Amino acid sequence: MTDLRHFIDISKLRAETLALIFKESAELKRRLKAGEVYHPLANKHVAMLFEKSSTRTRVSFEVGIHQLGAQASILTRENSQIGRGESPADTARTLSRYVDAIMIRCYAHDMILEMAEYGSVPVINGLSDFSHPCQVMTDIFTYEEHRGSIKGKTVAWIGDGNNMSVSWVHAAVKLGFTLKLSCPENFGPYKHVLDWANDQSKGAVIECKTPQEAVEGADLVNTDTWISMHDQDTPLRNRIFRPYQVNEVLMALAKKDALFMHCLPAKRGEEVTEAVLDGPQSVIWDEAENRLHVQKAIMLWCMKVI
Ligand code: CP
Ligand code: NVA
Repeated sequence: MTDLRHFIDISKLRAETLALIFKESAELKRRLKAGEVYHPLANKHVAMLFEKSSTRTRVSFEVGIHQLGAQASILTRENSQIGRGESPADTARTLSRYVDAIMIRCYAHDMILEMAEYGSVPVINGLSDFSHPCQVMTDIFTYEEHRGSIKGKTVAWIGDGNNMSVSWVHAAVKLGFTLKLSCPENFGPYKHVLDWANDQSKGAVIECKTPQEAVEGADLVNTDTWISMHDQDTPLRNRIFRPYQVNEVLMALAKKDALFMHCLPAKRGEEVTEAVLDGPQSVIWDEAENRLHVQKAIMLWCMKVI
């Protein structure tokens, strides 16, 4: 048993830890806006390993690392020995001799688990096929900035039961809100994730028959691309998901002051219309900005500054 603080899934963290990260995110945002220089990670180094593309995760982590006084190294599958078959375990053992934390964006979630098991520094999940906890932490922080505590609120997830939806399920259980899911048959989140949620907190996650039922009375409406980076782009998916588009008619069923979120990148006109994405209820650019502040807080927690 190590005392390393990994940030791999929201389901594995205590509610008090999540609260601490949110509180620190607000403080870091305040410091930055006030122009304060704050270098609690001076002389530290973070390695970031990307098997998949990224705009927000890569830049927000890199900028955040620099703002905290640390430095970053970026590896990809192609430019590192991972692409030539070096195992995640050996990569983690090696990187741990140089750096103070490792952030990973990858396909198989097991790669993150293996690096956490064999490395000796904290590991942060920057998205896997299974989950995307940095984004969902950010989304909740963003909701609370706009509307106050998410506890007791209702969040609708419309569309693909993908990595984002899994982290939303984890968060609903940990933070005490209701998640209403509307996904096409056979495209919902993994059964073991739903079973876990049901065991932990009956009623926290509700599977709805239609997008309309899920959005009805919701405080927050959320969707994501129909074709994630690990999916095959098939016309079939586009046909199946078509009735799950978030548009103004659907949004009108949510509470009047409901917010709309999307982790981005969005396919405008597919999972969401331009009118909603760019409309008055959308907080997508705040979400994108807040990745910076929340991930800085996550790194401070992982490296035991908070
Ligand atoms: N939302 C998100 O993780 O964006 P990127 O894929 O651009 O990092
Ligand atoms: N579900 C998307 C999220 C992108 C940030 C994907 O995995 O591609």
